[in-house]
Amino acid sequence: MRKAIFPGTFDPITLGHIDVINRALNIFDEIVVAVLVNIKKTPIYSAQQRLKFIQKATRDLEGRVYAMLWEGLLVDLCDHLGIFNIIKGLRFTSDYEYETQMALVNRKLNPKIETLFLVSAPEFALVSSSMVREILYHGGRIDGFVPKQIVKDLTTWHKLKRN
Ligand code: PNS
Repeated sequence: MRKAIFPGTFDPITLGHIDVINRALNIFDEIVVAVLVNIKKTPIYSAQQRLKFIQKATRDLEGRVYAMLWEGLLVDLCDHLGIFNIIKGLRFTSDYEYETQMALVNRKLNPKIETLFLVSAPEFALVSSSMVREILYHGGRIDGFVPKQIVKDLTTWHKLKRN
């Protein structure tokens, strides 16, 4: 069975991430969506919440998508799962420099690792987790930015935070 890991912060998961997952499912049989720690980011949702959002948003993907939390290095997760294909989504050329650097570091840490970049559909190129957080912060609507299964959860969470 061909498997790949899709790692990220997912704060929260967006339709852009779902687009990448669907593209990856055309190549791989199973995708592990892994919530990892990016030391440059301070997520607003807890790791458990982010995991729950992913699980809810991918429930209809026929048991081919699994979500999990991992606190260590991505290369150690690859070893742990015995999966050495990593999927990353690319939106703009600005993503490319950072992602290439990560791919090279991961391959230096473990030469078995291969990173595959999947290019987002144009309609999702503008979608990012930070945009979603900003829209929610100002009380805007996030339909069309995040999977429909989690629109209500995210909106309610922000309303509760504000009050
Ligand atoms: O969605 P993001 O924030 O771009 O994802 C980045 C992430 C979480 C995949 C990356 O920071 C990561 O792999 N973190 C785990 C630690 C690690 O292995 N870092 C890369 C080698 S220094």
